[in-house]
Amino acid sequence: MQYSKEVLDHFTHPRNQGKIKNASSVAIVGNPRCGDIIRVYIKVGKNKKGEEIIQKTGFETLGCGAAIATSSMMTEMAKGKTLEEALKITNQNVVKKLGGLPSSKLHCSNLAADALRKAIKKYKDEKEKNKKVN
Ligand code: FES
Repeated sequence: MQYSKEVLDHFTHPRNQGKIKNASSVAIVGNPRCGDIIRVYIKVGKNKKGEEIIQKTGFETLGCGAAIATSSMMTEMAKGKTLEEALKITNQNVVKKLGGLPSSKLHCSNLAADALRKAIKKYKDEKEKNKKVN
């Protein structure tokens, strides 16, 4: 099985690995095919225009090398993006940025971007809920 240089780099030197303190949202996604899981943390802040952006990301992945590499790349891609921009990150975008994955490992890329979108949606839902309460 042939992995790209980028996949090997992100697997052996994962970026943003670990939990982050005071995360704005946390989401867990499991891969039904193999049972592997990812937990994604995001910290939301504001940019100069007052838009909400992802300031910090973190991840904990119990999975194979491809799952770790896609988690690492996803967290790099999400940092600094507005929530709307980050919601547009797809599994395919992440795989492309990694220079591809062997076809037998493509299912491993489903975890990262799904977990990111779940964390963002959770954050937005919480905010909406708090608005209604207040
Ligand atoms: Fe489970 Fe790769 S084998 S995510």
